[in-house]
Amino acid sequence: ETGHVTYDPGFVNTAACSSKITYIDGDAGILRYRGYPIDELAGKASFLETSYLLIYGELPTTDQLAAFTEKVQLHTMLHEDFKRFFDGFPRDAHPMPVLSSAVSALSTFYQDSLDPFDSDQVEISTVRLMAKVPTIASYAYKTSIGQPLLYPDNTRSYVDNFLRMTFGVPAASYDVDPAFAKVLDTLLVLHADHEQNCSTSTVRLVGSGQANLFASVSAGVHALSGPLHGGANEAVLQMLGAIQADGGDAASFVRRVKAKEQGVKLMGFGHRVYKNYDPRAAIVKQAAQDVLSRMAKPDPLLDIAMKLEEIALADDFFVSRKLYPNVDFYTGLIYKAMGFPTKMFTVLFALGRLPGWIAQWREMINDPETKIGRPRQLYVGSPEREFVPIEKR
Ligand code: SDX
Repeated sequence: ETGHVTYDPGFVNTAACSSKITYIDGDAGILRYRGYPIDELAGKASFLETSYLLIYGELPTTDQLAAFTEKVQLHTMLHEDFKRFFDGFPRDAHPMPVLSSAVSALSTFYQDSLDPFDSDQVEISTVRLMAKVPTIASYAYKTSIGQPLLYPDNTRSYVDNFLRMTFGVPAASYDVDPAFAKVLDTLLVLHADHEQNCSTSTVRLVGSGQANLFASVSAGVHALSGPLHGGANEAVLQMLGAIQADGGDAASFVRRVKAKEQGVKLMGFGHRVYKNYDPRAAIVKQAAQDVLSRMAKPDPLLDIAMKLEEIALADDFFVSRKLYPNVDFYTGLIYKAMGFPTKMFTVLFALGRLPGWIAQWREMINDPETKIGRPRQLYVGSPEREFVPIEKR
């Protein structure tokens, strides 16, 4: 009993930690941030408002949100020396290792704010991460296409600023499509936290050794990049593209998945916790249909995705294994429509997950009860044996 959630004793023993931040009921398809249902927040609370909720525990008042927004805006620029950092990577580098390296490098520029037990230092590190990660993400992209970097424009909203730094050029003004900005803000809200997923548990575990917030988040970025985790949104587009190139026959691809051909999986389907439709996926699917219906040229990949979902949800192979679309199944189609290259998709996931990582790290550092302790193991190796000198082996 935790006041309003009842867990069976078996579950309690498997839980890695306790937390006050996010609640998931995988069977019922429920997701709440600090008690607020995700479908209440998505489309109503902005990403910065949601970030404030996750990090500080309450929805901000108008003044609190204005103060938080101003603090973030004051820190969106990177040190001029930092900008040379991006020139050190090959142009075709994947932006996720660039992002993780850059976030880690922040700890070398801000050595005055690394103490996990100094609340002022934790606060400024929180603001610097929220402010600078969009700048870093856009710079990783710009450098990869050989375009000049744009300074942040603090007269713009958080998402507008990021879209302009990513798609704008110094030679012309850049007007963000307000519909795209609104959808991207909502997608960031949907990705903002998700209990003890692989990358968040990584942030907690790294932080449990008292590593600073930048180092812990950098580790989380790497964990997120795996194709079974945040890298799935990129893998979904590659899967849809391969199906299209192969004639667009969704049914024959599903047959390959069911035959478990070379580990072929229906990327964007299945979840360790949700054994029901991921509540985020339903919202993303609607957003994808809205965004793509406005495109001059319809995207055939959306039809393939919807056909895959229709076939899978009626097929016992998936139904019996409780495999439903997860948050990654439709997001890539929206990012593609916005003009992002596929390899930026997981960077967008990281941008969304950032406040969740920060909130969970702060909770863990301040409350040992919520720490993921040192994991133990069952030893199944050799019994004790005597050393054999090499000449006798
Ligand atoms: C995210 O944890 C989080 O909260 C993560 C996340 C977040 O917000 O942080 O929600 C974000 O990572 C979403 C997941 C994105 N990954 C993918 O879409 C990759 C494809 N999905 C799978 O790899 C898989 O579903 C997992 C890893 C996501 C979940 O694995 P489970 O629940 O542990 O399931 P499993 O691997 O034990 O599989 C059970 C059965 C197996 O078949 P059998 O051995 O019973 O015959 O289902 C099969 C699996 O082979 N299966 C799939 C499948 N997922 C599971 N078969 C085909 N396609 C799939 N996608």
